[in-house]
Amino acid sequence: MYRGHLVLVNADHPVRGDHAPDLAAVAGGDSIHVLDERIALESLCLRRLASLVADAEAQDDIVVVSGYRSKQEQTAIYEDSLRENGEAYTASYVALPGRSEHQTGLAVDVGARVEGELDFIAPSFPDEGGCLAFKRLAASHGFVQRYKEGKEAVTGIACEPWHYRYVGAPHAAWMESLDLCLEEYIAYLRMFSFDGERLAYAEEGWRAEIYYVPAEETGVTAVTVPACDAYTLSGNNVDGFIVTVYEGAGYEG
Ligand code: DAL
Ligand code: ZN
Repeated sequence: MYRGHLVLVNADHPVRGDHAPDLAAVAGGDSIHVLDERIALESLCLRRLASLVADAEAQDDIVVVSGYRSKQEQTAIYEDSLRENGEAYTASYVALPGRSEHQTGLAVDVGARVEGELDFIAPSFPDEGGCLAFKRLAASHGFVQRYKEGKEAVTGIACEPWHYRYVGAPHAAWMESLDLCLEEYIAYLRMFSFDGERLAYAEEGWRAEIYYVPAEETGVTAVTVPACDAYTLSGNNVDGFIVTVYEGAGYEG
């Protein structure tokens, strides 16, 4: 229940379980600029980020500022920010150690690649050029802006135009069209079940059905999956699992 591309991580739901994310370095194979050669992301998240940046033709406009952070790294960032920026700013823009989705490898901070000093905690990511193209295409590659204006009371975090979270294309599409942040979307999905209504999404070449399976209070939870071309299973890090069933050859997760 604590792993998968749809885990909800926030102040109320810390990173749990002792599994290590399947990480890959951003620098190297893919033509994405990085602030630091050591920046890594969960491997599917990185593959989809590379296709997003390429699709947006934004290779030279964007720099990856931060990706996976261990709990220790988040602690250092949190403490540095407390010293430099004070309590109110830090509470708005830096998740508590153990409660940052950067610790899953599924969150990436992107900034505009410009001359001069870049703000590590709050990089500029404006509505222009390659940055704007990235924003427009993000959902179709499975990414959402995780902390939006108007959702501060739900997410507990101020608006962060630079922080993107990989959730997978059908989920990003539904979150965008219903204007739901991840907290709200995870709650919304409890309406759907294998036996009842499933949330459907269709693109040219593939379609998906999404449903929720509550975790058993004790022991193992049996998850039923219909005949399909492919499926993904993710814990929600709260109380159950989300199954995404794909039909058609064109699906990309
Ligand atoms: N900036 C986000 C909230 C984090 O620190 O995870
Ligand atoms: Zn971030």
